[in-house]
Amino acid sequence: MILIKNIGELVGIVPAGVLRKQGAEMAETGVLRDAWLAIEDGKIKAFGKMADLPVGKPVGEPVEPTGIPGPDRESIDAQGGMVLPAFCDSHTHIVYAGSRDGEFLDKINGLSYEEIAARGGGILNSSDLLHETSEDELYEQSMARVREMMGKGTGAIEIKSGYGLNPADELKMLRVIRRIKESVPALVRVTFLGAHAVGRGYTHEEYVQAMVDMMPQAAEYADFVDVFCDEGFFTVEDTDRLLAAGAACGLRPKIHANELAVSGGVQVGVRHGALSVDHLERTGDAEIEALQGSETMPTMLPGSSFFLGIPFGRAKEFIGAGLGVALASDYNPGSSPSGDMRFVMALGCIRMRLTPVQALNACTLNSAYAMGLSDITGSITPGKRADLLLTRPGWTLTKLPYLYQTPFLRTVFLGGQPLE
Ligand code: NIG
Ligand code: FE
Repeated sequence: MILIKNIGELVGIVPAGVLRKQGAEMAETGVLRDAWLAIEDGKIKAFGKMADLPVGKPVGEPVEPTGIPGPDRESIDAQGGMVLPAFCDSHTHIVYAGSRDGEFLDKINGLSYEEIAARGGGILNSSDLLHETSEDELYEQSMARVREMMGKGTGAIEIKSGYGLNPADELKMLRVIRRIKESVPALVRVTFLGAHAVGRGYTHEEYVQAMVDMMPQAAEYADFVDVFCDEGFFTVEDTDRLLAAGAACGLRPKIHANELAVSGGVQVGVRHGALSVDHLERTGDAEIEALQGSETMPTMLPGSSFFLGIPFGRAKEFIGAGLGVALASDYNPGSSPSGDMRFVMALGCIRMRLTPVQALNACTLNSAYAMGLSDITGSITPGKRADLLLTRPGWTLTKLPYLYQTPFLRTVFLGGQPLE
């Protein structure tokens, strides 16, 4: 049992059973000032006001009805710091080899993402590097990124394949993601994104067929199937085929849609019951309509809008239309070389004009929903995993995106354990 006491602001309290926030609910979250929170067996046991904290009970004896035990508890004095749910990052490509800093210079000199890709750079460049890199080395390089993300407060991470671009190398990536999943305290979800770009040596049609054919093997590792359904990459028809093949193997879709063009990706994703459709930098009313009444979480990636200089998703309009919005980092070497969810939250506020509460919901509960994890993490709810951030004294929710570069973290708890 760990007791965190003297919490200045306990933020992100959500009743059990609420799996996502939509529309006006995005502006709401439970807040308790001068609070305590108890952790037991890796989970949130209970919380309350300091004024109501039971004291002086016999050692080890639970105090009903709060369930807070006596003085044998290990207690941490938050000294007025804030406690909030750890960030959830529902869209990353952090398993990649090396770096693409050469392309960064091309970008500075004026080439667009599409122009870099058309010259054989971009995703194909990462695929060549990955092919030459041993599985152990790929694991080590990727683990360094995961450690950095956890250290910055991320407690649940979705990781995609998609730099293999042939069956053998896609499976190599999926094995590395599984190894990461088994070795970190963060929750990891695995997505098969074979259809990220057409691999070298294939025609477009041959490649789509190869990815359809390997779906049963991929499904041994993956929770989800993804397709880069966008101009110059994969069509709505390709996506239809790949998602049907995924569904036959029990894989639910998460789609890359509407980053480079109005691609039809949102509609095909919703039609296939996608858990999320992601990017959405270029959407109109038709996409909003397609999402209404669906189980699909629109997920926006402000880090790639920032890095590529493309439009930010229209989060406020989506919310105004009654939809939920999740935010994720898209951490990858080409369009978003950062997995810092606090910065994502700040971009949500500064560039998308979300309020800090809306941005918090987008970066925690809704992003957990977009990984199918919002029943076990993503909010301050008794019974959920104790994936928590304890800040330094003096922090409030509004200061988090406002003072967007000032160090704020004191301790990251994942599954109730302080991160080393
Ligand atoms: O989500 N858009 C497609 N895929 C990634 C970029 C991958 C890369 O450039 O390596 C993205 O932005
Ligand atoms: Fe992506």
